Amino acid sequence: MSQQLSNSFLIELANEFGTPLYVYHAEKIKEQYQKLLTAFAGSNTRFFYACKALTNINVLKYIKEIGCNIDCSSINEVKLAVHAGFAPENILYTSNNIAFSEIETAQQLGVNINIDSISNLRKFGQKFGHTYPVGIRLRPNIMAGGNLKISTGHQDSKFGIPLEQIDKVLEVVKETNLRITDLHIHTGSEIKDVEVFAKGIEVLFEVAKHFPELEVIDLGGGFKVAYKPNDEVTDIDKLGRKVKEEFDLFEKQYGRRVEVWFEPGKFLVSEAGCFITKVNVLKETANTVFAGTDSGLNHFIRPMFYGAYHIIENISNPNGAKRNYNVVGNICETDTFAENRSLNEIREDDLLVFQNAGAYGFEMSSNYNSRFKPAEVLVRDGKAQLIRKRDVFEDLLKNQTF
Ligand code: LLP
Repeated sequence: MSQQLSNSFLIELANEFGTPLYVYHAEKIKEQYQKLLTAFAGSNTRFFYACKALTNINVLKYIKEIGCNIDCSSINEVKLAVHAGFAPENILYTSNNIAFSEIETAQQLGVNINIDSISNLRKFGQKFGHTYPVGIRLRPNIMAGGNLKISTGHQDSKFGIPLEQIDKVLEVVKETNLRITDLHIHTGSEIKDVEVFAKGIEVLFEVAKHFPELEVIDLGGGFKVAYKPNDEVTDIDKLGRKVKEEFDLFEKQYGRRVEVWFEPGKFLVSEAGCFITKVNVLKETANTVFAGTDSGLNHFIRPMFYGAYHIIENISNPNGAKRNYNVVGNICETDTFAENRSLNEIREDDLLVFQNAGAYGFEMSSNYNSRFKPAEVLVRDGKAQLIRKRDVFEDLLKNQTF
């Protein structure tokens, strides 16, 4: 059964902690993790939470507590993971276009590393040779993902080493005696079609024959969640069966059982989070009614940046008559959250809740217009804990020099 926080509880939280406010529901994260464990039970699969989706340290600690591993996209995320208590072997650093010094730091910390360029691979080989196992991030030349900004595996993408350069990779591996234990791809975010993963598996199995020391095949993240009722999602049960079937076969061909790794971000935390705003101003105009909230694209960028659809609920007036609104923010440029959206009648001071805001919500927020970043609350066992205070004025000046 899907878990949801009640409207009355959310209203209490908004009253206690103020708005705009991010609220995360721990048990929902666990529920999502359990779904993955169940779907992939038949195969040798491990999950690494792509923490770029939400890095609050309390969330990271919770993720660790439920037994999930962690995937990082910067050395600072790696350091946060260490800080949260993850053991190095449960931390993965999947980089793109980073300075070699970050890879050296990751090596010192003892974490798993996926390298995404030939130049860094060569430097790594020259420095560490066979002594430190490493993974390669490949670009499989597969078009996938919800929109171009979040498609990462296609043939014009900056991510990974293009498949067609595999000979070059093999030269570097040979020259520097590298020990390649992992092949990685991440084709995009919001992948609906299991076939995309199947294609990725096929590509990696083909490449795998060049690497006799493989221990892992890492298929990245990208499981899609529902943003609207009846929205198409990744069929993880079907994918689980496919993975089992393919990897059982591969074991026979390759002569050894490899682990399958996934790096889900959205799947674990998106639905576990919501974002509460308050309506400051209602503006009736010739063409629409604007509901102007106390937030904007500075706090929740997905609608403007990706054209993303998020369900909005007026939790202060859930039985009000339906009317169409343009829900907007208070930022000095167009920051539309929803256009022409049918919502229960909105009055000034009403609380609007955006669903599915746990992933890439707070994490992509900024202080644009010198607004404070929102506070964050984690609800666990029915109890709410403030896990990030709202900014105060001093925070805006903190790193400036005088
Ligand atoms: N692994 C790698 C190497 C990635 O680059 C990403 C996401 C993931 C895993 C996790 O993907 P997920 O399971 O969350 O789809 N800000 C965008 C999403 C950007 C994803 C970037 N990389 C959004 O809000 O839609």
